[in-house]
Amino acid sequence: MDSISDNLDANKRSVFEPISGDKYVDIHCHCLPAVDDGPSTMSEALSLCRALVEDDICVVIATPHQLGRFSDCNESAEIREAVSVLNAELKSNGIALSVMAGGDVRVDERICQLLEVDKILTLADGGRYILLELPHQSFIDIEPLLIELSSRGIESIISHPERHGGLSGEPKILLKWLKHPVHLQITASSLLGEFGSKALESAWHLLSSGLAVLVATDSHDLSGRKPSMKAAFERISSQLGPAVARLVCIENPSRVLKGCAIAPTKNILISSDKDKEL
Ligand SMILES: [Fe+2]
Repeated sequence: MDSISDNLDANKRSVFEPISGDKYVDIHCHCLPAVDDGPSTMSEALSLCRALVEDDICVVIATPHQLGRFSDCNESAEIREAVSVLNAELKSNGIALSVMAGGDVRVDERICQLLEVDKILTLADGGRYILLELPHQSFIDIEPLLIELSSRGIESIISHPERHGGLSGEPKILLKWLKHPVHLQITASSLLGEFGSKALESAWHLLSSGLAVLVATDSHDLSGRKPSMKAAFERISSQLGPAVARLVCIENPSRVLKGCAIAPTKNILISSDKDKEL
């Protein structure tokens, strides 16, 4: 991993060089064995990791669920240990994938306090970005939490907003959240219609309007929740242009991994619209 000064230099560069070249960094994936609703065994975890490699992913941030129904388990130290064991297994099985530690953290008023005592994780354990999962059944305004995180220098990434019916009915609240350092992450398979028509429509709206700036697999297994980054990249490339696809699937995930500033897509979306008009 590069030094902090390299990261700062990368922030200043107008064209960011992802660590992964043309390969993907997946910032949201349930690939650790026997910790949540991802793989139950190491063998299943290795199968999922092989599928990630086949999907051209070279680095994955393992993001097991934290808090919510996993409140009594999956603390940071356990996740770091599980990541280290999985990396060793990947090496001994010749699977070319690096795993970093992270969490898919259910929103909870104790988050800042739990970060302080190292019970929950930021993405890639880097201290800059936290992946937040909204409750599935109800809608709550999490602005106070976003403000508190921001005051501690932590930027929130909200996972799969397209899959939360309540959020699509509250566009003003979403825009209010985005005034803080908040970023939206779309699930790759939502863009392919695998979470239904409402999530499909919402995912494309959020991406094409420039509100969502990251795509990740949120993969859990090889059946209903398999990785589909390549297919999503190709679909975005044909709908919104290759520059947008590259930014949301390769460059911005790489920036999250390195703790660099996430780039907006708005300027590229405007220039690709102009290209279409010509
Ligand atoms: Fe997740």
